[in-house]
Amino acid sequence: MRTAQLTIDPAFAIGPADRRLFGSFVEHMGRCVYGGIYEPGHPEADALGLRRDVLELTRELGVSVVRYPGGNFVSGYRWEDGVGPVGDRPRRLDLAWKTVETNAFGLHEFMTWANEAGVEPMMAVNLGTRGVQEALDLLEYSNHPGGTHLSDQRRKNGAEDPFGVRLWCLGNELDGPWQVGHKTADEYGRLAAEAARAMKMSDPSISLVACGSSNRRMPTFASWEATVLEHTYEHVDYISAHTYYDPSDGDRASLLASAVDMDNFITEVVATADHVAAKQRHRRKLKISFDEWNVWYEARLQADLDRRGWVEAPALIEDDFTAVDAVVVGDLLITLLRHADRVGVAAQAQLANVIAPIRTRNGGPAWRQSIFHPFALTARYARGTVLRTEPVSPRYETKKYGDVPVLDTVAVHDEETGELTVFAVNRSETDLELQLDLRGVSGLSGQCHLTLAAGDDPSATNTEAEPDKVTPRELNTPTLDAGRCSVRLPAVSWNVLRFGNRP
Ligand code: AHR
Repeated sequence: MRTAQLTIDPAFAIGPADRRLFGSFVEHMGRCVYGGIYEPGHPEADALGLRRDVLELTRELGVSVVRYPGGNFVSGYRWEDGVGPVGDRPRRLDLAWKTVETNAFGLHEFMTWANEAGVEPMMAVNLGTRGVQEALDLLEYSNHPGGTHLSDQRRKNGAEDPFGVRLWCLGNELDGPWQVGHKTADEYGRLAAEAARAMKMSDPSISLVACGSSNRRMPTFASWEATVLEHTYEHVDYISAHTYYDPSDGDRASLLASAVDMDNFITEVVATADHVAAKQRHRRKLKISFDEWNVWYEARLQADLDRRGWVEAPALIEDDFTAVDAVVVGDLLITLLRHADRVGVAAQAQLANVIAPIRTRNGGPAWRQSIFHPFALTARYARGTVLRTEPVSPRYETKKYGDVPVLDTVAVHDEETGELTVFAVNRSETDLELQLDLRGVSGLSGQCHLTLAAGDDPSATNTEAEPDKVTPRELNTPTLDAGRCSVRLPAVSWNVLRFGNRP
């Protein structure tokens, strides 16, 4: 068996493991809303139509913040369509997903859902087909206590108290030619700066996210961020990043190293933001809102879109995630944690049905996809301070990312409870012995080793018939001897190693 070494010391602190790193995303797309979180008439639906089974799974997933209502959808959306009596709401064409939007679910339904789910809402405004005024109107409707036309309309529509939304995205992926209202970096930067300045005049307590690139492969990547931030740096709190990793080409070695790409992406966005800060003499460091990330069999999207005409809530990109995909998701979470000093918000895309950890059948059950598990366990155990780790690891060659380490790790130390959690991915097709040196953290004993291993059945998925085929299992509890131990990380696996205070 090959070996790797890792020494952990609480002195190497990166920063707090912000709960906002465990965000998710609900877009009016496919069956994420309709048939996902909301399905009036379903046996599990409450009086409003919210599916209680999906709410329960959302809470179990440990989601902290949820971005809404898009995505590409928001770039043609009129938020006013989704408020007021449901029977009066207009049916509209949604150009982003070639769908008919009924608007039965809107702002109030989302806020009620977010409250029930115990998550913080993160709203996106439409800067595709709309502008500063509409963004201000939505903000006033949502956050102003009362005594104005829009805030009183909210109260009339059933919400006496303001929604108090703290996080706002200034549009979505406006660098993308597919986006309704696509813009150049200068056009978007000017609009975003004006919207941001006005929105903070209306409510100075909010935090704003400017759109970064749709992915690192965009031809405009980095120059987009630089130009947008030249316009917006002083007015915004975050720059967004989006990325999806597509397993469709069957190149498993590269897929397993996707986190290397995410890591480089973050480093490059940070460098670009810091360049603008230096140029404009800003002391404040900008953070990243990594508000769309996941594994996505993107090659299948076109077939989904070609298959039909204008319909309501069709099944769109309902990928069945494999055990390997779950290992990749676990590794992407490790990467986000490792950058906890500069990534302040992150949202996995999406929450239900659409490339999602939660799957449902209309009128039927809800179940956990393979990728549910690394998210839920990371959200549960990554509490405290994120520690920098420098593993010594064997390496392997990938087509997409060159020579990469087999082992990827991050550690989180909870000073209050004294617990230490190590998250570790073995990307190789053979088992790996991890030699851990924890002498820097006194009084620890091994508590458990959970693994989600894909080596035996890489293409296993969770289905309605077999909802628990891919689940984490417990291996031997690590035994520390004078602060050191060895653990076996199975081939292609994502692992949680927990250590607590000695009894
Ligand atoms: O999450 C699916 C889509 O991917 C989002 O609508 C868009 O922002 C991204 O391109």
